[in-house]
Amino acid sequence: MSKKAILEIDGNKYEFPIIEGTEKELGIDIKTLRGATGGITTIDPGYKNTGSCESAITFLDGEKGILRYRGYSIEELAEKADFLEVAYLLIFGELPTAEQLDKFDKDIKEESHIDEDMKRILDGFPKSAHPMGVLSSLTSALIAFNPGSVDVDSEEAMYGAIVKIMAKFPVLASWTMRKRKSLPLDYGDSSLGYVENLSKMMFSRPNKTYEANKIVNDALDKLLILHADHEQNCSTSTVRIVGSSHAGLFASLSAGISALWGPLHGGANQAVIEMLEAIREDGGDTAKYIAKAKDKEDPFRLMGFGHRVYKNFDPRAKIIKVSAEEVLGDLGIEDPVLDIAKGLAQVALEDEYFVKRKLYPNVDFYSGIIYRALGIPTEMFTVMFALGRLPGWIAQWREMRLRKEPIGRPRQIYTGANYREFKEVAKR
Ligand code: SDX
Repeated sequence: MSKKAILEIDGNKYEFPIIEGTEKELGIDIKTLRGATGGITTIDPGYKNTGSCESAITFLDGEKGILRYRGYSIEELAEKADFLEVAYLLIFGELPTAEQLDKFDKDIKEESHIDEDMKRILDGFPKSAHPMGVLSSLTSALIAFNPGSVDVDSEEAMYGAIVKIMAKFPVLASWTMRKRKSLPLDYGDSSLGYVENLSKMMFSRPNKTYEANKIVNDALDKLLILHADHEQNCSTSTVRIVGSSHAGLFASLSAGISALWGPLHGGANQAVIEMLEAIREDGGDTAKYIAKAKDKEDPFRLMGFGHRVYKNFDPRAKIIKVSAEEVLGDLGIEDPVLDIAKGLAQVALEDEYFVKRKLYPNVDFYSGIIYRALGIPTEMFTVMFALGRLPGWIAQWREMRLRKEPIGRPRQIYTGANYREFKEVAKR
């Protein structure tokens, strides 16, 4: 017997079906609400209680700290899979066979060139431009050089656009980093794996023989997997709503990059390191920053802490914390900022303010410490997040398009001026 919700307004009763997901989540289906009630809508700033879609891609349970991509646990995928496998899983729904993975890899490599005129667009930016702004612009600019990637209705046409952006995005990301360092733009090497090639494009130097570092590549691969998808977060919802207008995959991704840039979202990984550095320069006074975070008069927040969904722990943060210690140990790096981070987390996790609000370290709290150990500049941290989230954004966009979902267009409750007649300027 399917469950129902009854709404009573002014003595009138309205019935709505309750849908149940495969993990027993319940949602009141209010598709008929406005029609049934003569125009009554709901209001839910930040969509804290509102589901935007049914999705089969990622499941997370904020209370239990569960995160699964297409049913596989993040712990197993981080341990046993590589990033390209996970990208295929998220986008197409199944772990690839050896043949499927090989074809995906080859199709991507076929598309890893970038029109030389794109370099002129990159050259138009000042070195000081934030890499996320550059990457969002270059992703949108790709449309001009790949017009066939816009109007993609068939699975085949979508596949063509998907392998194009999977191939070109890491090149553009590495170019944004190399531009800031005044390095020649590297194209990498198609004989390398996806993440090994990304590493080479980022870290190779014109005057040195490039030597791959397995510790760096393994750490990068794991970080990209951990960031690959996270159901309907801010940037993914942006990708879906822009995609719902049929603006095309690249335009939707460009919008998602801009949403991820914000310090409350993916930009937090950069803000965490800047916060930890400030604490270090301030003599390691973590108590002062905890007090600032708790002070309602102070806009400062403990960056890397808290999460809209996770109210116990972020399973990704647990994995990244262990990986940070391993990578620093393997690379023989002593980073005082890691000790400050651990000290800060310890104090916050015992403080009533954070405990009461269920604020715990999230994915961004420790990730910057690893990026820093890998020699990635702080302003590139959110670009690394975007590189990981790319397959998740693609998977969510593809699901939305294949399901032919309607254009996203929320309603509102108007609270402005009622009708008033126009006044000539002399009478105002
Ligand atoms: C990501 O959604 C996703 O899945 C995102 C993500 C992904 O993979 O896509 O997981 C990636 O974006 C992780 C989050 C990175 N952001 C940060 O670390 C920035 C700091 N965190 C906060 O800004 C905040 O916790 C959010 C934005 C992450 C969540 O905000 P919510 O769910 O809207 O919660 P809220 O702002 O309503 O806060 C509830 C209370 C408030 O206090 P009261 O008004 O109840 O007294 O908790 C307080 C907040 O002031 N609070 C914090 C805090 N986070 C929340 N106080 C101090 N420091 C913080 N970090």
